[in-house]
Amino acid sequence: MIELSNLHKSFDGASVLKGINTTFEKGKTNLIIGQSGSGKTVLLKCMLGLFTPDKGDICYDNRHYSKMSIKGKRNLRKEMGMLFQGSALFDSLNVENNVMFPLKMFTNNPYNAMLDRVNTVLKRVNLENVNHKYPAELSGGMQKRVALARAIVMNPKYLFCDEPNSGLDPKTAIVIDNLIQEITKEFDIITVINSHDMNSVMEIGEKIIFLKDGIKAWEGNNKEILRTTNEAVSDFVYSSELLKKVRKAYL
Ligand SMILES: Nc1ncnc2c1ncn2[C@@H]1O[C@H](COP(=O)(O)OP(=O)(O)O)[C@@H](O)[C@H]1O
Ligand SMILES: [Mg+2]
Repeated sequence: MIELSNLHKSFDGASVLKGINTTFEKGKTNLIIGQSGSGKTVLLKCMLGLFTPDKGDICYDNRHYSKMSIKGKRNLRKEMGMLFQGSALFDSLNVENNVMFPLKMFTNNPYNAMLDRVNTVLKRVNLENVNHKYPAELSGGMQKRVALARAIVMNPKYLFCDEPNSGLDPKTAIVIDNLIQEITKEFDIITVINSHDMNSVMEIGEKIIFLKDGIKAWEGNNKEILRTTNEAVSDFVYSSELLKKVRKAYL
């Protein structure tokens, strides 16, 4: 479990996170939702150790970040996979070398073992025979799958995905969502996903926290979000007349 307690982060006096408390659970797709600028990426970067919180703590399976040694933090980093917004593949490396990159960086495994692992994760994201293609030669959905393969190549305990659906058509977005959820269950990972995609909320929102003005304004799951009376979260999620009608039909 990842536990956030009283997490604060500000930039130049502007408070972005104002005391976030929540937990993210194992084997579940945990979603952070909220308007653009609500602090989703900042929160994810705090969990990745890329930003240091001003106050509060993050606890990873009973290991408190604030009490960790530098070596402890470095080891923790190896347990994390990250799927960045826009895939963030290296354009000059082919698929195989993109996926192998973390293994080369963090392990001393022999080349053939690394290649085996690369092929295993590429197969897991349903990509075969693309090892020698370059990112520019792939569709947006395939690039996301390569990025997902890279994110899980080190067999992470924690998987962080920042807007994994951005730039994808709705059908491909669902394929990526489902793949992330399957992998989360199969490997019993704690997955945290930033999203403002309504489909993701409904399809894979096993645990959802809603950020607004630097606080957690609501938390629950996809079933509860349908019935919530919390105005802030329903205004955000059911933003259009169409969605309001769909919700009514469901209830
Ligand atoms: N490195 C940074 N330096 C200064 N301000 C930042 C930095 N990163 C994010 N912010 C600010 O924090 C707020 C939340 O940003 P972000 O977490 O990216 O929002 P979201 O991901 O929900 O769209 C924004 O006002 C943004 O300008
Ligand atoms: Mg963001």
